[in-house]
Amino acid sequence: MTGGEAPLREELGRAAGTHGEVVLRRCDAHLELVVAGVFAMDDVDTSTERALATEALRRCGGQDLTVLVGGLGLGWTAAAALADPRVTAVEVVELQPPLVGWAEQGLLPALPVADPRLRLHVGDVSVHLAGARARYDAVLLDVDNGPVFLVHPTNAGLYEQPGLAAALGALRPGGVLAIWSSAPVPELAGRLTGLPGAADVEHVVLAVERDRRRHEYALVLARRAAQPS
Ligand SMILES: C[S@@+](CC[C@H](N)C(=O)[O-])C[C@H]1O[C@@H](n2cnc3c(N)ncnc32)[C@H](O)[C@@H]1O
Repeated sequence: MTGGEAPLREELGRAAGTHGEVVLRRCDAHLELVVAGVFAMDDVDTSTERALATEALRRCGGQDLTVLVGGLGLGWTAAAALADPRVTAVEVVELQPPLVGWAEQGLLPALPVADPRLRLHVGDVSVHLAGARARYDAVLLDVDNGPVFLVHPTNAGLYEQPGLAAALGALRPGGVLAIWSSAPVPELAGRLTGLPGAADVEHVVLAVERDRRRHEYALVLARRAAQPS
């Protein structure tokens, strides 16, 4: 596109559900996802979505790793987890059924849907976490634009102490929880630090340049303590 031309938009999918409308569209060469009227993401720069997986897995020891991804989006975090040869299972929990359907139809080019290690589930990741005890080596959460910019107000509990405790409880001892945010959130790192069973809490700021502006995203990482404190 040359300067001044309107972007070329093509709608690939639009569906309404109990959690609002979800729209997948192409804008020039890029994909965009809009959830419940909120711009959820595009694939102009997916370095931080991929870093959510790579930074967590870098902190995981061992082999045969089982990973939970909360929020499918355009599939970049799940794809980055699958790119790690130590990973033998990636479970994705996604709230929007149409998005899972579009992924299965191959509309999300980043996601290797035929990879036998990948399982896509429809559901609310907070409900899933509450029922998963010591099951995962890594739990990767990117369901909002971060704890300070929720896509669904019902996700607020994920970032409060009981929600964080459930996410930690879904990890095997030594496993790693990672949360993506569209802005630095030191207060979230502080909340995790105060939780029994949390260790090695880190707040990592990732700079991305978009539209000639510098943006600061963040990852909050915590390990489930090997021994409960
Ligand atoms: C920003 S996108 C995730 C981007 C993803 N990390 C990637 O790499 O493409 C957020 C996703 O989380 C989903 N979502 C929001 N709330 C959720 C919840 N409570 N449980 C599961 N998925 C949820 C949205 O429908 C959306 O697909």
